[in-house]
Amino acid sequence: MKFPYGFLLAALFAFPAMSDTPTPQPPPYSLPDPLKMQDGTPVTTPKMWRSKRRPELISLFENEIYGKTLVGKPDKLRFVLREEKKDARDGKATRLRVGILFGGREDGKQMELLVYLPNNVKGRVPLFLGLNFDGNYTTTSEPDIPLPTHWVNGLFANKPADHKPTEAGRGIHSYMFPYDLILSRGYGFATACYGEVEPDEKDRWKDGPRSLGPQPGANDWGAIGAWSWALSRALDYLQTNKRVDSKRVAVFGFSRLGKTAMWTGARDERFAMIISQNSGKGGVSLSKRLVGEPVEHLAGRLGHWFAPNYAKYAKNEAALPVDGHQLAALIAPRPLLILSGLEDKWSDPEGEFLGGANADAVYRLLGTDGISTKIWPAPQTLISSTIGYYLRPGKHDVTLEDWQATLNFADKHLRK
Ligand code: GCU
Repeated sequence: MKFPYGFLLAALFAFPAMSDTPTPQPPPYSLPDPLKMQDGTPVTTPKMWRSKRRPELISLFENEIYGKTLVGKPDKLRFVLREEKKDARDGKATRLRVGILFGGREDGKQMELLVYLPNNVKGRVPLFLGLNFDGNYTTTSEPDIPLPTHWVNGLFANKPADHKPTEAGRGIHSYMFPYDLILSRGYGFATACYGEVEPDEKDRWKDGPRSLGPQPGANDWGAIGAWSWALSRALDYLQTNKRVDSKRVAVFGFSRLGKTAMWTGARDERFAMIISQNSGKGGVSLSKRLVGEPVEHLAGRLGHWFAPNYAKYAKNEAALPVDGHQLAALIAPRPLLILSGLEDKWSDPEGEFLGGANADAVYRLLGTDGISTKIWPAPQTLISSTIGYYLRPGKHDVTLEDWQATLNFADKHLRK
């Protein structure tokens, strides 16, 4: 048959809009069923999920992705109150600075937790907890937060030489931490710097909690595991604070710290709600959907975040035994909010949505409403089912708009 060039030309002229570049579709992929045991046995009851499938998935994530966390809560863990300022933020908040001393010593491994508690609320408050990239002093312009001396990243800030914090960084990330808004809605807030826990560089495990136990071997924790462990220690502290409702602590994180928040929520069921801020691949986004960052990149230059085994899946995502949807399923039945940026192609925002959507069956088995849509929602539409989703126009970032969506979601799920 002759090729119908005439028709093709006519079609081009008739539908000029169709000449716009269509969104490329990923090659076909298949996802492992969260409700099927590795040997194929279907998981049909909440009890079977809890006693069989959940532990099986946790050990797959430990062995193949993040590594095993070798140290629990240290016996010597100690909390020291370094400051209590009752009239912080124009009287709106009580501000605490708490040293979390991993080995009990002021001169040892530690992190400082910056805590805000709203003064206009009596009794215990729900609270958001997350790590920051560049030091607590970058999250607020308050001049009396000490300039830290620990390693900071600088990636999203002023790129300080040798990763040493400088005054120029003060408040530089305050737009990502809208404290006054969060406090005015009756929530507390706590943050610490991941670089104080363990510097984000290859071979720095000796400088962080991974050195508190046996030397990590082939399947043992990477840096994400170490940062995640620190979030659990922050919750240990929050459980001792009488103003905090420790049964209503939400853990959040942006980007690599979003991957960390997801793994923390999966591992530590004390967290009541999980917020993924652009956690991308290696987080809630589906790696098997070959859009955005490949495993080769994560397991290569960023390999220190993960278990060494993860490298097996470079250029071989199809072989991954687990993906973002199973990480999301490990959070069930607790509320999970997935925040994406429309232009954040590297994280694959649609893949982040699908990570949540494909955890739906587990959420429903456990008696929740799962996710209310299976179709990637339009920007600026908050999906507020137990698996929630919000797509912000714009790039890889966290803005006021993300926090507004988060607070609306939390009002529904964290306060009940
Ligand atoms: C890199 C990395 C991402 C990660 C991001 C971040 O871009 O490839 O996986 O989320 O850094 O943490 O900022």
